[in-house]
Amino acid sequence: MINALRRWARTHTEEGRYSPVGIAFHWVMAFLVLFQLGWGFYIGFMGVGGDKIAAYQVHSAVGLPILLLSIGRLGWRMLIPGPHNDADEQGWQTTVAHVIHYLFYLAFFGLPLSGWVMWSSVAEPGPLHLAGVLPWPQLPFDALGDATRWSILDVAEDVHLVLVWLLVVTVPLHVAAALKHHFWDRHDVLRGMLPEIPDAEDPREGHRHKPRAPRARPGSAGR
Ligand code: HEM
Ligand code: HEM
Repeated sequence: MINALRRWARTHTEEGRYSPVGIAFHWVMAFLVLFQLGWGFYIGFMGVGGDKIAAYQVHSAVGLPILLLSIGRLGWRMLIPGPHNDADEQGWQTTVAHVIHYLFYLAFFGLPLSGWVMWSSVAEPGPLHLAGVLPWPQLPFDALGDATRWSILDVAEDVHLVLVWLLVVTVPLHVAAALKHHFWDRHDVLRGMLPEIPDAEDPREGHRHKPRAPRARPGSAGR
């Protein structure tokens, strides 16, 4: 089964593309994480009151599935190596990109976990729901004294905010790098993360990916 999956994924990764499963994980999670960042800051601007609690409930309902998706994504990523693409040949830039990918995975786990801890350390405002539907347990903190719960809340809040700011810095770098590789260097990296358009239906047929010529030869018409 695993070998069959690997063989299937290789038909994509050997073409320099992520597998459709990897692509689905990437874009679903990118959308959810960006939503969470925007919604989280939006909650910060809301006045205290009933709406704010409802907004936190949306925040946790969307955030908890990220934890499950992260487990699935990490498992998939360990099973199926990513493709080797043009972005893997860029020296220090490749290293920075890989470090950022590791940090993203850290945030994928750390944000929902610290959020869950925060939520569980204050008895109110009530039960959690996965995607707003399935009941999700609180962590068993009720036997702990108030002071301990407040300290746990404090640490979890710090972790949450550090990871939020980590994403605020690294996501724009990641997106800018993806666009730079695509539009400036004309590398295959972004194309490998987009759904494949079968050649016969590709309206851009005839304008195939073509890496930019080495810049060591100024004046060469290598574009
Ligand atoms: C990838 C997932 C998540 C992201 C990107 C995220 C992002 C954010 C952001 C941007 C804020 C506002 C920070 C600020 O005001 O400066 C925030 C606050 C908060 N989040 Fe999340 N969050 C995620 C998951 C969760 C989950 C799953 C829960 C609960 C189960 C949660 C609970 C909270 C709480 C309680 C706060 C308020 C913290 C405070 O007031 O200091 N978060 N989050
Ligand atoms: C419009 C926004 C985005 C674009 C254009 C984009 C593009 C890309 C591209 C082209 C890659 C492949 C990089 C390579 O193979 O070297 C990639 C990988 C990755 N991206 Fe994004 N991305 C975006 C948003 C995000 C967001 C918001 C996150 C989550 C914080 C994210 C997390 C990742 C991760 C973890 C990888 C590594 C893939 C893996 O091996 O699991 N991306 N992205």
